[in-house]
Amino acid sequence: MEQLLQQIEAIKAEITATVATTPDAVEQYRIKYLGTKGLVKQIMGEMKNVPNEQKKEFGQILNAFKIVAEEKMQQLQDALGEIGEEGAKFDFTLPGDPVAVGTRHPLNLVRNQMVSIFKRLGFAVAEGPEVEDDWHNFGAMNLPADHPARDMQDTFYVQEASENNAAWLLRTHTSSVQARVMETQKPPIRVICPGRVYRNETISARAHCFFHQVEGLYIDENVSFADLKQTLYFFVQEMFGKDVKVRFRPSYFPFTEPSAEMDISCQICAGKGCNICKHTGWVEILGSGMVHPKVLENFGIDPEKYTGFAFGMGVERIAQLKYQVNDLRLYSQNDLRFLEQFKSV
Ligand code: DAH
Repeated sequence: MEQLLQQIEAIKAEITATVATTPDAVEQYRIKYLGTKGLVKQIMGEMKNVPNEQKKEFGQILNAFKIVAEEKMQQLQDALGEIGEEGAKFDFTLPGDPVAVGTRHPLNLVRNQMVSIFKRLGFAVAEGPEVEDDWHNFGAMNLPADHPARDMQDTFYVQEASENNAAWLLRTHTSSVQARVMETQKPPIRVICPGRVYRNETISARAHCFFHQVEGLYIDENVSFADLKQTLYFFVQEMFGKDVKVRFRPSYFPFTEPSAEMDISCQICAGKGCNICKHTGWVEILGSGMVHPKVLENFGIDPEKYTGFAFGMGVERIAQLKYQVNDLRLYSQNDLRFLEQFKSV
């Protein structure tokens, strides 16, 4: 008796768990549980072995059991009806076809992370055109007419200067967006400008004819070099972790005075010395400085009242240090074997 009750419970559990979404599967259910040789009939057959005084109680249990099996049958049939003719052919229990999910490009991953770090410091994002005029790319940024950076060897000219027309070119740096921002905004200004830049370089592992930069510009009253250092130090700590070391080296850029380049401790070899850091333990990641008074004046910003800092860094370089990508060409070859490695990032 005890054993029989256990058997009934087990079959009930099985019935409840049954999934049948095709007419065939529902028919199989009917045969297995409700057919002439089905489990319900078999269990009913046990009635004759039950002692008389227990027959009444057991009869009730059996009835309830039969109802469970029949109701399930009804449910399955109703569900089939809802699925309809077409749906009935569809086996909902089959595993789905895998959907190929794309990956973000490593440069986008790194750019987004850079942008989000600066956003937290209150920087807004500004963008400018990739095809730029001479003024915004060079002149306004205090690059004199005879500056070597304007050379045909470095710059892709779309249209050379003529008597009536200024030269048009592919911007060589995102500093041109600084000019666009100062043209339209009054201090306080706090922007970062991510974007693609172009240079007439022979393509190799270490150089490419286009790459990406993130430019920063902060102009307000009393902005100092200490603000510049602290901002950039915060950035690299967020990007690479608290153990990163930084150092500033004096440098020269026409649009900043004083100017500095910033190195960080090599993230590949942890400062021990490797090919990436040329065995110095340090890697240069950006140029920076206090905005040159002439640049401010070019946009009617009073350099006696306002000061500012600016910086520009390469996204590829940051990505190289984060992901140990040693060949710039990989970023633009669209090789899935490379790109898929960033799936889980
Ligand atoms: N424009 C420079 C370059 O492409 C990078 C740079 C240096 C940007 C110093 C700046 C700066 O804003 O202050 O190499």
